[in-house]
Amino acid sequence: MNNLERTLSIIKPDAVERNLSEKIKSIFLKNNLLVKDTKKLHISKDEAAEFYKVHQSKPFYDQLCSYLSSGPIEVMILEGENAVLKNRELMGATDPKNAKDGTIRKLFGVSIDKNSVHGSDSVDNAKNEINFFFNK
Ligand code: CDP
Ligand code: MG
Repeated sequence: MNNLERTLSIIKPDAVERNLSEKIKSIFLKNNLLVKDTKKLHISKDEAAEFYKVHQSKPFYDQLCSYLSSGPIEVMILEGENAVLKNRELMGATDPKNAKDGTIRKLFGVSIDKNSVHGSDSVDNAKNEINFFFNK
């Protein structure tokens, strides 16, 4: 292993609701991202607002926080070689319409807000986001 990393993945309410968690996890495993820890939870809007605070100035912030707290989510720690970038590649573009074939958002995303998954976008943010949900 040259660059072992950990990143945070969230299976968003639209995907949990459609029972896609196992299918999404199998995509991670097939691509050598190990699921090191996982939990299912239903966060409050205040917790979502804290988690997404980097987006607080964006026009979609309020809707985003309402959405992430609208139903159960599954959060997990993924570990593997270049895990942060690899997860972002497997997820695909933010808007499922623009996501490449075979990516999670292309396969399962419904719309830009109901795009099925979250993934940390840097090693530093991954550490903060893992700490937010797992205290480690
Ligand atoms: O999730 P990702 O890192 O690809 O995108 P982001 O720019 O960090 O935005 C966070 C989330 O906000 C996205 O995953 C979308 O669900 C949502 N969003 C939205 O609802 N409308 C936008 N115009 C942009 C993002
Ligand atoms: Mg992001």
